[in-house]
Amino acid sequence: IPVDPFDLVVFGGTGDLARRKILPALFRRFCAGQTPQEARVIGAARSDMDDDQYRHFVAEAIAEFNDHFHHEEDDLQDFLSSLSYVKIDALGDEGWSELATKMHPGRVRAFYFSVGPSLFGPLAERLHSHGMADQDTRIVVEKPFGRDLETARALNRSLADHFSEDQIYRIDHYLGKETVQNLMAIRFGNMLFEPLWNSQYVDHIQITVAETVGVQGRGEYYDRSGAMRDMVQNHLMQLLCLIAMEPPSKFEPDSVRDEKLKVIRALDPVEPEDIVRGQYLAKDDRAGYLEDVGDPHSTTESFIAMKLHLSNWRWAATPFYLRTGKRMRARSSEIAVVFKETPHSIFDDEAGRHRNILNIRLQPNEGIDLDVTIKEPGPGGMRLVDVPLDMTFTEALGPEAENVSDAYERLIMDVIRGNQTLFMRGDEVEAAWAWTDPIIADWETRGSKPVPYESGSSGPEESLMLMHHDGRRWREVRS
Ligand code: BG6
Repeated sequence: IPVDPFDLVVFGGTGDLARRKILPALFRRFCAGQTPQEARVIGAARSDMDDDQYRHFVAEAIAEFNDHFHHEEDDLQDFLSSLSYVKIDALGDEGWSELATKMHPGRVRAFYFSVGPSLFGPLAERLHSHGMADQDTRIVVEKPFGRDLETARALNRSLADHFSEDQIYRIDHYLGKETVQNLMAIRFGNMLFEPLWNSQYVDHIQITVAETVGVQGRGEYYDRSGAMRDMVQNHLMQLLCLIAMEPPSKFEPDSVRDEKLKVIRALDPVEPEDIVRGQYLAKDDRAGYLEDVGDPHSTTESFIAMKLHLSNWRWAATPFYLRTGKRMRARSSEIAVVFKETPHSIFDDEAGRHRNILNIRLQPNEGIDLDVTIKEPGPGGMRLVDVPLDMTFTEALGPEAENVSDAYERLIMDVIRGNQTLFMRGDEVEAAWAWTDPIIADWETRGSKPVPYESGSSGPEESLMLMHHDGRRWREVRS
């Protein structure tokens, strides 16, 4: 369904995120006919550029980052003609009056803060003082939303000075992923799973987000963050919330976000022995973490595994194991719900009791598989074997499923439509930091050091032991 004409300003319009994600996403929505020709996209940044130079810049970004996407040349020209550029000083006066003249009264207007968090407050203030903040105005902010509770609170306050909560769209791009939304569809669109979705039937849950990339030229940012701040506080926390939350009464922003917030608040503090931090080593011609970030003494983690507990009725007796890391064996994000063993085996079967595992594959090869126990074929008696009931979304749904939109396409359109369901509320972000802070503070006081792990592996040996101690094991990391 096409959206109404809008004005979208991208602060940081010449930056990396704009080039890689935001502008190509807008172009794809334009080609899909979802954004109208009258919509206007305005890049705003410090560089000296005119409209034509900006269009050229965007055309190059589209060529570079839309490689699998086929489009007509006319569409590209039409899209480029909807773009313009304003040179702006986020901390001064330059460019603001010009930007204000580009706004169309009565339209939805969105300002995407694709800049560092230190500019969030100054941008909000200038939008307000130059009369661009009315009730149809929305602002979009990216992570990192602070680096601890205190800085996140300060950011929330500086935005709240000029905008109400329902105008603030805090992006966690994991929420825009098709399969992440599918978590809610699987849980709340089926009768089959929800009655079993608790400590009585679920032994444990594993969440893995494995990447093969290293720090990718973002060494300076990454070394100040580490896997805990870069991935766990936001993306893995969101996955945990969607897996663990109570059913919201409606698929609506505050119903969903209230339930997610309750999950974060129910998280217990984590014992130091339940956390493993790792750093990848050099392999072949690829540098190790320390070389990548240019600091031989860095104690930042590029891998983390942890065991978490939730103090509530549903989950009190079910541990959640989370792990994420760079330079691992495969790019693979999965959530495995491991059910308990059958209480008793009626078969004289050496394999003993069996368990079901529901494995939700978030990326790549999106789909779900459910391990079920059946009889091994043949005359050899009642021998049991576990086999997967496997559903790959592209196979089940046909080519349509291959055209899944990128997370940014979905999220930007939600901003224009004014739907906050897939965005984080201020209190949610603060609660996530409130849980993260003491863990990081403890590392700092104890001088905790990450253990090395081999590039292309499943992470440090110690992370395997974390599970072994409990008589469990991680699923293999494979694509
Ligand atoms: C980003 C992190 O938020 O998410 C990166 O800053 C990480 O370090 C990326 O690589 C992973 O996103 P995706 O969509 O590739 O799984």
